[in-house]
Amino acid sequence: MTPLQPIVAIDGPAGSGKSTVAKAVAKKLGLFYIDTGAMYRALALKARQENIDPNDTPAVVALAKAIDLTMSYDRHTGALRILLDGRDVSEDIRRPEITEHVSTIAKNEDVRHRMVELQRQFAAGKSAILEGRDIATVVFPDAYKKFFLDAQSEERVKRRYLEMKEKNIAVPENHIRRDIQNRDHIDSTRACAPLKKAPDAVYIDTTHMTIDEVIAAVIAEIQR
Ligand code: CDP
Repeated sequence: MTPLQPIVAIDGPAGSGKSTVAKAVAKKLGLFYIDTGAMYRALALKARQENIDPNDTPAVVALAKAIDLTMSYDRHTGALRILLDGRDVSEDIRRPEITEHVSTIAKNEDVRHRMVELQRQFAAGKSAILEGRDIATVVFPDAYKKFFLDAQSEERVKRRYLEMKEKNIAVPENHIRRDIQNRDHIDSTRACAPLKKAPDAVYIDTTHMTIDEVIAAVIAEIQR
């Protein structure tokens, strides 16, 4: 890559394959990997730890401004660790009770400002791949390559259900369906930085593709 900003941006809804694809592409191309959803999730976890209601906007904003959040990414193993107050919360932030409230927390403009600031700091001076909902539209509008991954809703529900099952987290499929529909709605209708495809992003419908096919398509496009 020889761009102004050596950044690859991947946006898309839950279950579209963003994380798996971004991780694999990062490893293959030697890019730094940043999972921005994990940052909103860490804030949702912190709010829960402090007994703060996700709808209590002033309290959530204050929390976001003071949050002690770091990411450690190992280029060799491809492992990403999310540290909240110095403690590894990479697993805790995936729990259903955190997922349930994360979109409510992520819709606030001041919260987003703080998170975007941190995301740019994490990526500063690096060749990186970032995944989220607003990377190509807001965080790095000058990214070298932009992708919007998508899949039909039922396929995304199925993928998330299997993913949770593999992690031995028992969540009924209808809860996952409700959560995905709820987050799709909040994320794409919020006033600040809604989930949408950037006009210059490459759209990939992954519904009928294997992960390897998506990874290959993304790498081919980056190297084009
Ligand atoms: O992995 P999954 O697709 O379930 O979600 P995630 O990427 O971990 O993101 C969790 C939530 O954080 C999303 O549903 C959004 O509400 C929020 N988010 C956001 O608003 N902006 C981002 N750049 C990334 C995530």
